[in-house]
Amino acid sequence: MLKRTHTCGELTPGHVGQTVILNGWVDAWRDFGGLVFIDVRDRYGLTQCVFEPEVGAALQAEARELRNEYVVAIKGVVAPRLPGKENPKLKTGGIEVRADALEVLNATPTPPFEIQGAEANEELRLKYRYLDLRRPAMQEVFLLRHRMAQLMRSTMSAQGFLEVETPILGRSTPEGARDFLVPSRVHPAHFYALPQSPQIYKQLLMVAGFDRYFQIARCFRDEDLRANRQPEFTQLDVEMSFVEDDDVMNLMEPLVAGIAREFTGETVSLPLPRVDYRDAMERFGNDRPDLRYGMELKDLADLAAETDFKVFQLARENGLRIRGICAPGGGERYSRKDLDGLTEFAAGFGTKGLVWLKVEAENLTGPTAKFFQPATQAKLRERFGAKAGDLILIVADSQAVTSQALSNLRIRLASELKLYDPASFHYSWVVRFPLLAWDDEEKRWAAEHHPFTMPLAEDLPLLETDPGKVRAQAYDLVVNGEECGGGTIRCHDPVTQAKIFSLLGLSPEQAEEKFGFLLGALRNGAPPHGGIALGFDRMVMLYAGLTNIRDCIAFPKTARGADLMSGAPGTVDARQLRELHIRNVE
Ligand code: AMO
Ligand code: AMP
Repeated sequence: MLKRTHTCGELTPGHVGQTVILNGWVDAWRDFGGLVFIDVRDRYGLTQCVFEPEVGAALQAEARELRNEYVVAIKGVVAPRLPGKENPKLKTGGIEVRADALEVLNATPTPPFEIQGAEANEELRLKYRYLDLRRPAMQEVFLLRHRMAQLMRSTMSAQGFLEVETPILGRSTPEGARDFLVPSRVHPAHFYALPQSPQIYKQLLMVAGFDRYFQIARCFRDEDLRANRQPEFTQLDVEMSFVEDDDVMNLMEPLVAGIAREFTGETVSLPLPRVDYRDAMERFGNDRPDLRYGMELKDLADLAAETDFKVFQLARENGLRIRGICAPGGGERYSRKDLDGLTEFAAGFGTKGLVWLKVEAENLTGPTAKFFQPATQAKLRERFGAKAGDLILIVADSQAVTSQALSNLRIRLASELKLYDPASFHYSWVVRFPLLAWDDEEKRWAAEHHPFTMPLAEDLPLLETDPGKVRAQAYDLVVNGEECGGGTIRCHDPVTQAKIFSLLGLSPEQAEEKFGFLLGALRNGAPPHGGIALGFDRMVMLYAGLTNIRDCIAFPKTARGADLMSGAPGTVDARQLRELHIRNVE
């Protein structure tokens, strides 16, 4: 075999005159009769090779047979391109290789889509993922992914964190999604669960005295998939001892700043802003606000009381909330039809209507403007700091519906009205999440994060009196409105832990059965500890400028959890099932 002396992204006019060998894939071929051009591609770039008449009819004929994606070795001499034929877009655009030998390393059938062509449909791309991954744009994503993993490893290691692997075959873990189960052959009717995260193991490592742990860990959750969720994903998982919530955030911030520097060139000033969960919900309607733009939600109950609009009166009588946002320039931008569209969009989040008011130079206009007296109109403008051309949107509904609808309107309008630079980044912590959420179906409290979370010290008495008000030592890292990480300080005190289990409806026996090995360990000298996990794929997605997490995972699953390339999940033969003591029922 003709083995490469250079990659396809390496040769420049400095190499002119050298004899070289390139290995790679045929990216394109052009046959001009006298001259046969072959572009050879590898992950480093592309080089133009030319077979001139001087090489003889036989070799030229061989070159003419080459087709896209053939794997080739080409030997030749580096020469400057003819004046005017240079390609400044290519690193190798100043030269070409005058070929004098060719070896076809592998001939291939016509590929199902053009590697360098317009993007093929996703199903085809996933079915032939190895070809899809050959595309330079994809290879760039995985280069970024690699660099991010290296940066995480070196930064954590420099801060004294040890990388420790934890089991994939384990017990059910407490993240609260559905488990993927693996039947045991040796223990009939017993199952391993794939880890939803290394949560329990990393806490055990703290009990063991490892002090600072990290792992780039694979996690498995059988949940409904979305653009930012995969059933199998990767976390930078971290745990540390003798810390409080601020310590964890402070220790992670240099990594966040390092990532920002490496992938955006920006210097992030530390500490990052910390937004109280309650403030986030009140001002932005969700717990992962995109702070690249304002457009905060405002409470309008007092102003609504000044109107005689029936919708508002009824809302007030029913203890509902009346809240709104003001979109800069929205009044000018949106037509009547667009506003019907926004009303429908909001209805998707459960609203029964949407009041819209266009801010004009003199007054507010819109079908319900007549209910707002001039004095109320003036106060409304003032509350939002609105100016002519803006658009005020108001929803009267429950806390949950107003939050959902207005936060989603806020996100949509900010993007449509171009209120921020989509290439910019904003980092913040959302802190002090509620410890518990009421599960209406099961009629019991559920852990908001997981059941080993430590309440804020000042809220401990509320565990007895008003559990819903207890705040947790919990923190989420939010980047551009995306939840990129989350963690808590753990409960290492058996009394508080027992109280939390009882609120979760777990009897001491059930808690022991589920998490006994952790509880036992916590009683055996657990240090105060806490940690966090960053969504590694989500971060790659953001810095690669992608909108779907699939595009930064080498072999992802579809929305229905299938791997179109390998055909997983697949059936297995009867013998395998018998060995596992499993029978399929209709
Ligand atoms: P949590 O469940 O919040 O915490 O997960 C941490 C981060 O992982 C990312 N993430 C996902 N990414 C892709 N696909 C998914 N299905 C998915 N689910 C979560 C998110 C999220 O912020 N053990 C705790 C951490 C701790 O307490 O230390 C945990 O797993 O970016
Ligand atoms: P209706 O009286 O139901 O015809 O509604 C009159 C206007 O009020 C319409 O523009 C509706 O979109 C709006 N509206 C109705 N219910 C609500 C609500 N709960 N919140 C905000 N606007 C509403």
